[in-house]
Amino acid sequence: EAEAIEDRIVENGVLAVLRGVDEEQVVPVARAMYEAGVGALEVTADDTRTYEKIAAIDRELADTDAVVGAGTVLDAASAQSVIDAGAEFVVSPHTDAEVVRVCNRHGVLSAPGVMTPTEAVTAIDAGADILKMFPASTVGPGHIGALQGPLGDVSVIPTGGIGRDNVADYFDAGAVAVGAGSSIVDYEAIAENDMDQVRETAAAFVEAVED
Ligand code: 3PG
Repeated sequence: EAEAIEDRIVENGVLAVLRGVDEEQVVPVARAMYEAGVGALEVTADDTRTYEKIAAIDRELADTDAVVGAGTVLDAASAQSVIDAGAEFVVSPHTDAEVVRVCNRHGVLSAPGVMTPTEAVTAIDAGADILKMFPASTVGPGHIGALQGPLGDVSVIPTGGIGRDNVADYFDAGAVAVGAGSSIVDYEAIAENDMDQVRETAAAFVEAVED
């Protein structure tokens, strides 16, 4: 099951990070993003409404091929809670083997955050499906190949500071997909409740990914 989710994320090329979008807006935002060509949506677990948001997006996009997951999952209890809400993948900024194991137990894709070889090996040994290279901007695209050198052909999704102008560099360097927040989610447009603009901004990023 985790493999099918990985395929969908890789095929889509971008994991859009919805951070701090409130419960009233998160469904129309997710719908606009999906219409723009974003098939993988990560809702960050940074408030008490994460469960409801994930469940609501799941319902809204149930008849589509979109995959919906959770990000900023910091511990095993949170992982369990977002999986109960319907998260199909779990992303963390760090590597916590217990989070990875909870995901594996439920057939949910696990993408822990790594920066160093030690973290990468810890994540792989725990059963991680994909490594989230975070924060990507501080090391740049070359870090992907540097990690893969000794570790083999592990799937890497760089995240943090990726924009339309540099996304191609990460794919050229071996990323299977990229994570993107502020460059694909138009927070200004969300503040103005302008879903057409949300769609346009996301579509522009998707176009850069497809190029
Ligand atoms: C986040 O922390 O919200 C994600 O890593 C996305 O970061 P970005 O806004 O730099 O893409």
